[in-house]
Amino acid sequence: PVRYIGNRSSGKMGFALAEEAANRGAIVQLVTGPVSLRTERSGIERTDVSSAAEMADACKQCSPHSDVVIMSAAVADYRPAAPAENKIKKKDGALEITLEATEDVLAWMGKNKPNGQLLVGFALETNDALANAQGKLERKNLDLIVLNTLADAGAGFGHDTNKVSIIGKGTKVDALPLLSKSDTARAILDHIETLL
Ligand code: CTP
Repeated sequence: PVRYIGNRSSGKMGFALAEEAANRGAIVQLVTGPVSLRTERSGIERTDVSSAAEMADACKQCSPHSDVVIMSAAVADYRPAAPAENKIKKKDGALEITLEATEDVLAWMGKNKPNGQLLVGFALETNDALANAQGKLERKNLDLIVLNTLADAGAGFGHDTNKVSIIGKGTKVDALPLLSKSDTARAILDHIETLL
């Protein structure tokens, strides 16, 4: 009831993508974890979730009638196997919490991809970035993957800027410079439009 496992993602990239898609006339379903961001724009229907399991349920409902699915959320890979009912009090020594795997939402999307749907994933890598991202593209049956690295100043968590590479099938890689998250969203949606 008191503490949880989270991560450093702000959600800004996902919100920028939702805004840009709506600017281009898309009807957008935005499924978001707990963030401190607001959506002002019409054309974006927002669903707030607070766990990987809730995100999986919401995305599975949206996927069958979506032309494009973009998964930029930093979904937790593990959750506590037995969440405590009461606050865990401090004791001497170390504390161990057993974690169990959550469902990989994007992998489910790849397995259940309707004909003609474009599926776009994100990858955050700290080493062997390109090879790891290309592996995810194939393994999860994606059409595009957007690779983030944390190596560049101004890129990544919490910033308003990002530096990504957009990777398609085959060896196509578009390495973008450091851009605002809204310009990054524009570049990603340009790639998506050429595939549609
Ligand atoms: N993703 C997901 N469900 C999860 C974990 C990740 O849908 N439980 C999605 C993310 O939204 C992202 C992509 O999978 O689009 C890649 O996420 P990332 O954390 O980079 O990779 P993982 O597949 O979790 O692999 P690893 O942690 O081993 O790098």
